[in-house]
Amino acid sequence: MEYVHVPVLYEDVISGLDVKPDGVYLDGTLGGGGHSRGILERLTTGRLIAFDKDADAIENAQQKLSEYGDKITFVHDDYKNALERLDEMGVGELDGALLDLGVSSYQIDTAERGFSYVKDALLDMRMDEEQSLSALTVVNEYSEKELLRVLYEYGEEPNARAVVRKILAAREKKPIETTLELAELVASAYPPKERYKHGNPAKRTFQAIRIEVNDELRGLEEFVTELALRLKKGGRMCVITFHSLEDRLIKRAFVELEKDCVCDKRLPVCVCNKRQEVKILTKKPILGEKEADKNKRSESAKLRIIERV
Ligand SMILES: C[S@@+](CC[C@H](N)C(=O)[O-])C[C@H]1O[C@@H](n2cnc3c(N)ncnc32)[C@H](O)[C@@H]1O
Repeated sequence: MEYVHVPVLYEDVISGLDVKPDGVYLDGTLGGGGHSRGILERLTTGRLIAFDKDADAIENAQQKLSEYGDKITFVHDDYKNALERLDEMGVGELDGALLDLGVSSYQIDTAERGFSYVKDALLDMRMDEEQSLSALTVVNEYSEKELLRVLYEYGEEPNARAVVRKILAAREKKPIETTLELAELVASAYPPKERYKHGNPAKRTFQAIRIEVNDELRGLEEFVTELALRLKKGGRMCVITFHSLEDRLIKRAFVELEKDCVCDKRLPVCVCNKRQEVKILTKKPILGEKEADKNKRSESAKLRIIERV
């Protein structure tokens, strides 16, 4: 299957990064390499280090971006390990960093990766196919309490109790093995009249299980904070999120980084030593909905940009 992914908010990301021809850049979520290409096109003596934990993404981009030679270094790893990996490579401060979070269109559209609730395949949803935890384990082995936590926390699924009840009853009889089996179970947890009121009823459950399988939110806020501190003065960071859970974490990290001294105003001198580390360049996020007619995936995208001070 061809690797197809149209980069979201491409122009805003590339201008937001304000790429310097001799700069050092990090793309934590290489995917189809669209944003990476935009960065590479603007580099002369600079360098890009690109991470993805999906081996398919790395392999595809190695071919597609081969013309850029050693301007780009590919790393098959979780971006949360990026700072250690940069240390190992002897890369110090960065001129810019990009995180375009979540899944790629390729991952969703490739049925056998088991992410899609409309294409039948074995339940999987692993971005990194070398890891052992998959959607099959979550759906068939998690306790009732764990499933409720996942659906409430990561799916904000209002009908979580009924969905979990359906899953537990079905797996008593036989393991739930496929994406469509799961999607039908979720649909059956809704009264027929309510079922398709807000699009496909399986959407939230699939999002929740995907986030759990790929451990998408744990440590994200801390990582983004550390990554921002790795930027040079004037260096930029762009983060694109696709749902409110992610966006809240990014927004909070940026707001904290921007805060200066937080001491009680009545104190004569500062004792907290908190200093402003970044300037937020997007007081309101840039919304992907403006390009949703051309790229369906952009619909829920929000881009936030900071500059190191
Ligand atoms: C939305 S796509 C990125 C698309 C890319 N910007 C482009 O222009 O094609 C997200 C990619 O990030 C990868 N990814 C998600 N979480 C990751 C993580 N924690 N570490 C490394 N890669 C991750 C996914 O495998 C996927 O390929």
